[in-house]
Amino acid sequence: MNTTISKPQRGRGVIARYCQYLPVSESTPTISLGEGDTPLIYCPQLSERVGRNCDVFVKNEGLNPTCSFKDRGMTVAVSKAVERGACTLICASTGNTSASAAAYAARAGISCVVILPSGKIASGKLLQAFACSAKIVAIDGNFDDALQIVRELGERGGFSIVNSINPDRIAGQRTAAFEIVDEIGDAPDFHLLPVGNAGNIAAYWAGYREYQSRQKSTKIPAMIGFQAASAAPIFYNRVIEKPETVASAIRIGNPAGWKQASAAIAESHGTIDIVSDEQILAAQAWLARHEGIFVEPASAATIAGLFKSCDSTEAAYSFKKIPEKSRIVCTVTGHGLKDPDVIMQRVREVKPVPATVKDVQRAIGP
Ligand code: F0G
Repeated sequence: MNTTISKPQRGRGVIARYCQYLPVSESTPTISLGEGDTPLIYCPQLSERVGRNCDVFVKNEGLNPTCSFKDRGMTVAVSKAVERGACTLICASTGNTSASAAAYAARAGISCVVILPSGKIASGKLLQAFACSAKIVAIDGNFDDALQIVRELGERGGFSIVNSINPDRIAGQRTAAFEIVDEIGDAPDFHLLPVGNAGNIAAYWAGYREYQSRQKSTKIPAMIGFQAASAAPIFYNRVIEKPETVASAIRIGNPAGWKQASAAIAESHGTIDIVSDEQILAAQAWLARHEGIFVEPASAATIAGLFKSCDSTEAAYSFKKIPEKSRIVCTVTGHGLKDPDVIMQRVREVKPVPATVKDVQRAIGP
C-alpha cells in the first residue's frame, strides 16, 4: 500500500501556501491549524440588491479553524514567536483574538494569557479560550484599557504580544487578499469589511498592493470600512471613551491601527461609514435567511453597510452609480455560532408539543 501523503498547497495553512510573501524562513517552525483557503461565495441575492449587473461575493472567514479571520495572522505571529523562543503569548481581545491565540498556543505547546473586558465577550469565544486552557483575566474596563495593559506588560518582557500591533499578524492577514485575487483572477473593484481595532483593513490593503506590484492583479479595490454607530472613532475622527454596540467584536473606541486604516481608505479612494445596531442585526438575519450564511454581528456590519450603500442617501459611498459589472467582495469575519446570545432568545420561544403527528402538523401551521 502506498502510504505517501502528498501535500497540496491548498488546505495546508497560509504559511505553506504563501511562504514567499511572509516573513518566514527555513528556521521558522510552522505552527498551523490549516487556516485560510476560505470560501469566496457568489451571492445571487446580494448581487440583485446592488443591481447594475454587479457581482457580490462573500469571503467567509468564519470557516477558519477557530472560526474567525484572526487565524491567518495568528499562525504567522505564533510561528515567529516560537522561533524567537517565546514561552507565553499575551493579548487583549474582544473575543476572537483570544480564541485564536489560545488555540495556536496550545498547538505550539506554550502558554497564553488573555485580557478581556469583563462581561463583554460573546459566550462562544470565551468557551474557546477556556477549552484551550488560556489564562483568562477579565478586567473592569473596555478593550482599549485591556490593550494598554498588554502593551505595558509586553514592554516589561516575558510575554509575546499577539495583537495586531504585532506586524507578523498583519503579514499573515494579507493572505486573504491574495486568495481573493488568486480565485477571481484579479482584484475586485470594491472591498467591504467591518472595522474594530483597524488591523484587518490595513492588512487587506497591503495584500492587494503587494499583489498589484507583483503583476498578479491589474487593479486595487476601493476599501470601504464599517463601524458600529456608537463605536465609530475613525468615522467621527475622535476617540470614543465609552463605545457601545451589540457587535461586541468591534466595540472599540481608540483603534491601534487608526493611522494605517485611514491611509488605506485614503489611498484606495474608499471610505469609512457607520451602521446602527438595528441595521447590523437585520443584516445578520437577512444573510442567514437569504444566502444561508450565518455570521456574528460584527461581520454583519459589512452586509448592513452594503445595504446602506445601495439604499441610503446618507451613505458615505453610494453604489447607485457604480460602474456596471463591478465586482464587490464583502468579508464576513466570524462565525455566527460564536455569539448565539441574541438569537437564543428566539430559540427559547420554541415550546414542545405532544409527540403526535396531529400536534406536530398543527405546530407547523398552514
Ligand atoms: N470582526 C470580528 C469578528 C472581529 O473579531 C474583529 C476584531 C473585527 C471584525 C475587526 O477587525 O480589529 O482588525 O479592525 N476583533 C479583535 C479581537 C479586536 O480582539 O478579537 P480589526
